Amino acid sequence: MHSTRSLSLSLSLSLSVIDDRRLTVQYILETSVYPREPAAMKELRQITAKHPRSGMAIASNEAQFLNLLLKLINAKNTLEIGVFTGYSLLATALALPDDGKILAIDVDRKSFELGLPVIQKAGVEHKIDFREGAALPILDELVKEEKNGGRRFDFVFVDADKNNYLNYHRRVLELVKVGGVIGYDNTLWSGSVAAAPDEPIPEILMESRDYFVEFNKFLAADPRVEICQLCIGDGLTLCRRLS
Ligand SMILES: C[S@@+](CC[C@H](N)C(=O)[O-])C[C@H]1O[C@@H](n2cnc3c(N)ncnc32)[C@H](O)[C@@H]1O
Repeated sequence: MHSTRSLSLSLSLSLSVIDDRRLTVQYILETSVYPREPAAMKELRQITAKHPRSGMAIASNEAQFLNLLLKLINAKNTLEIGVFTGYSLLATALALPDDGKILAIDVDRKSFELGLPVIQKAGVEHKIDFREGAALPILDELVKEEKNGGRRFDFVFVDADKNNYLNYHRRVLELVKVGGVIGYDNTLWSGSVAAAPDEPIPEILMESRDYFVEFNKFLAADPRVEICQLCIGDGLTLCRRLS
């Protein structure tokens, strides 16, 4: 017989952690997110939902959270790694002041261009500097520029190329201001990080699951940041740079 924990874990693994919390999340969406959702966010959410890889976009309550967080920390300069159709990017752009800037990196310009007309209609395109390419070499360039007095970011959102999070962490720590925030998405990896060693885990989650287990331990022990891992979307770990 299954214990309550392993039963709920099996459920969360087979249905994904988001579906496991389906009723509560649906309640939050209907009560607190959709009624206040800016028209542009709704339009981009609906466009993204038709994409065959729509599950890559962050959840709508996470987008609302990011938008509020950015306002709370008065973010002006941000960096985003992993744009897709621009859903988290639009949530960010709508939160920044008119002279705010987002450096947004993705290897795939095509998906970004799906969302671009909505971003343009929302009047926030001027805040976005989209760079097409692999994030690591672009970050290396930014680190070099930073050493010569380049820009420092108030917020960095990392949502791409999961098995490189540790490599991103090394670089973005040099790029975010002391007191600035880094957000790492998907750190619960469909709840699989909480599975017991003998728990059956779908093959598709396996590789990154082991990576996230190590990454989460690394962040928990990293004295350069204080952290908070949130059970929102697929898991979001916030890191505040200390030194
Ligand atoms: C999970 S999606 C981003 C979702 C987006 N943040 C949102 O909420 O709508 C991940 C994106 O990372 C991009 N990507 C994958 N590997 C990359 C890499 N090495 N460098 C830059 N972007 C990468 C993919 O093209 C994809 O668009």
